Amino acid sequence: MSQTWWRGAAIYQVYLRSFADGNGDGIGDLAGLRSRLPYLKDLGIDAIWLNPWYPSPMADGGYDVADYRGIEPVFGTLAEAETFIEEAHELDIKVIIDVVPNHSSTASTWFQEALTDRGARDRFWFRDEPNDWQSIFGGPAWTQVADGQWYLHLFAPEQPDFNWDNPEVHREFEDVLRFWFERGVDGFRIDSAALLFKSDTSYEDLDEVHEVYRRWREVADEYGDRVLIGEVWLPDQERFTRYLRPDELHTAFNFDFLACPWEPAELRRVIDLTLTTHAPVGAPPTWVLSNHDVTRPVTRYGRADTAFAHGGRLHGVPSDPELGHRRARAAALLAMALPGSVYVYQGEELGLPEVEDLPDDQRQDPMYHRSGGTNRGRDGCRVPLPWAGDEPPFGFGGSSTWLPQPEGWRKVTAEAQSADLGSMLNLYRTALAHRRDLLGDGTLTWLTMGPDVLAFTRESGLTCVSNLGAAPVPLPPGRVLLTSGPLEDGALPSDTTVWLTSLA
Ligand code: GLC
Ligand code: CA
Repeated sequence: MSQTWWRGAAIYQVYLRSFADGNGDGIGDLAGLRSRLPYLKDLGIDAIWLNPWYPSPMADGGYDVADYRGIEPVFGTLAEAETFIEEAHELDIKVIIDVVPNHSSTASTWFQEALTDRGARDRFWFRDEPNDWQSIFGGPAWTQVADGQWYLHLFAPEQPDFNWDNPEVHREFEDVLRFWFERGVDGFRIDSAALLFKSDTSYEDLDEVHEVYRRWREVADEYGDRVLIGEVWLPDQERFTRYLRPDELHTAFNFDFLACPWEPAELRRVIDLTLTTHAPVGAPPTWVLSNHDVTRPVTRYGRADTAFAHGGRLHGVPSDPELGHRRARAAALLAMALPGSVYVYQGEELGLPEVEDLPDDQRQDPMYHRSGGTNRGRDGCRVPLPWAGDEPPFGFGGSSTWLPQPEGWRKVTAEAQSADLGSMLNLYRTALAHRRDLLGDGTLTWLTMGPDVLAFTRESGLTCVSNLGAAPVPLPPGRVLLTSGPLEDGALPSDTTVWLTSLA
């Protein structure tokens, strides 16, 4: 793979707890992931991004990191992580891990020291008086400790924020990056990347943060073709692309695309905005339809309101599964054809729906608990994957799963879908195989096919056409390579995408 493999890569997101269980305790782990590497190879992805695998009390699914240089015992050992990295590399699959620099865990050595020793508090945000900030998960952003001081946590109380005005915090994270680069990881996904610094009035996108990423880029560059990927949720595109300047992060998630409704004008606007803001900094765009924080696409696209909004997360509103599925297939081919890299969140390739009927007493997401249940949270997109068989746990591992799986998932197991040529899984496999040769990094040229149609051609000669209108549209010239659904009398029906190659 080239030095710039990340510019056009297809990256598969593994939420380890829910991927595959190797030791039968109901929780996904490294042994399970290792056993499924052939599945990922067949799927045709270039890299895996793993959510945090560090020792953690799991107050926020591992985003409460107790030790940045270890592996959570429930997931495996450091030696096994190294073996996993080697095995992935043997299959030509890169490994990207999460790093969480905004906050730690109350179980970390540093925080435990801070609790007992007032002199050791400068690594965090301890104050005599809290301000009025609210936690992103709901409730106050400050918690009081026994001696009366308060500490800041933008997320759950178990996730104390680091003080990035302290140089020791900088040194610590540079060292953590090196620790994992030396163990072969190919890159980092940087959690809450815009939040690190705080002023009296703001905790988002302070200018000082860029100096940190310049330094991290120098560290990454020392190791060769490694990548830094930012989780940067910012409404302002200009502010967003500052993170992608040539001496900062390599790429960042495209949340505008992820949140965009299934509407042609809006999609066209977001795609154009993405391309025009990325071009000046030379960073490749990314195309993301889902992740472990958002509603599953087949559910979202089957609703009347097809947008995603964190604050206004919809739950239990009617969704037409057939329509959602059809659109999710069309959206997948659109996302994979656009110039840049693409992300696939585990289970997206199986067309899994959001599980909306989880029993409340089994919900684990702090977003659910801290909002008093008004926000149903993210458990519904984190249900353990169905691999095979006719009943739960569908080949996940042992005899149970940490969140219950719907009975109806017998129809969508990887095994069932492998045998069905028209399945979502086989669509993803075929599309990713073609994508490798014909798509990825580059540019596009729009074709004009009316207001309801998104149509463009890529350097390879591949043309992608998505029809979001109600009526079928005639195909442009070319040989049909792949469609997200059947054509109707040679025309492209509603909510369908086609890939065509030039006739020659
Ligand atoms: C990011 C993660 C999310 C986590 C939060 C706090 O947004 O994607 O899952 O809860 O950061 O670390
Ligand atoms: Ca396990």
